[in-house]
Amino acid sequence: MLRVLLCPPTYFDVVDQKNPYMACPGPAEGARESAVDQVRARSQWEILCSVLQQHGCEVETIDPVEGLEDMVFAANQVFAGAKNGYGKFVVPSRMVYPSRQREVPFYADWCRARDYQLIELDYGDDYLEGHGDLLWHPDGSRIYGGYGFRSTLGGVEKFSAAMSKMGVPVVPLHLIDPYCYHLDTCLCPLNNDAALIFPGAYSAEALASLHKFWKRVHLLTVDEAHRFMGNGIVVNGSYITPYVTPQLEAILHEEQLTPVLVDTSEFEKAGGSCFCMKTFLP
Ligand code: ARG
Repeated sequence: MLRVLLCPPTYFDVVDQKNPYMACPGPAEGARESAVDQVRARSQWEILCSVLQQHGCEVETIDPVEGLEDMVFAANQVFAGAKNGYGKFVVPSRMVYPSRQREVPFYADWCRARDYQLIELDYGDDYLEGHGDLLWHPDGSRIYGGYGFRSTLGGVEKFSAAMSKMGVPVVPLHLIDPYCYHLDTCLCPLNNDAALIFPGAYSAEALASLHKFWKRVHLLTVDEAHRFMGNGIVVNGSYITPYVTPQLEAILHEEQLTPVLVDTSEFEKAGGSCFCMKTFLP
């Protein structure tokens, strides 16, 4: 059974601008009402959990912490994996924003209590934002590492050095579109041969390496990418996505996936959607 970790959106809010989607700060700025509809956010999150359960996932949750407004984005705090001979492990992140840095120990403790080996990196001045920027190839043969907005090239290189000890190569990918500040907004592995990408998010070199590693590269339009259609969750023959277009539907059909719509409008105000809200646990 697939296990997946999420965090309830109890303290979720938009209080500052960490990415271009977060244009209207909430109460921390003063007079204005929060941009987030808390009731709607809670119900969208619950629907995401139940859709994951309907797809055969066992949903685990971590307790939300007051003051950590982005803790609901459970993809970022640790990178999780498993490798023969090493067992299950997590690499705690070093987040760029201080409020997000404070989320990491809670996730690391949660994983430590469940017998994950913690691989702590010495980040120095570098950053690395978990599954926001680090994506497994579905067969576990390599990891793609986005950098440029959040994770730094140095962070990806330090991660790469740690993974090379396990024999897993890391492919660095330079991101250049601020609306695709995390790799999970512009690369979505669909199966071992096919991925969805938004080409405008990558440097020429990064784009060339993506074409090298995937037999079928399906291109999202800028509108699809900026509406998080590349931030879906592939699970048991479905593609959980906030929106779908006829062209995305055709791609999914070709790859034998069925779109399943889950409204994430409240979370999109913070620059995240389905994929950002969970981590698959090995
Ligand atoms: N507001 C959050 C941030 O800017 C959103 C994180 C989205 N997460 C992701 N995996 N793309 O950090």
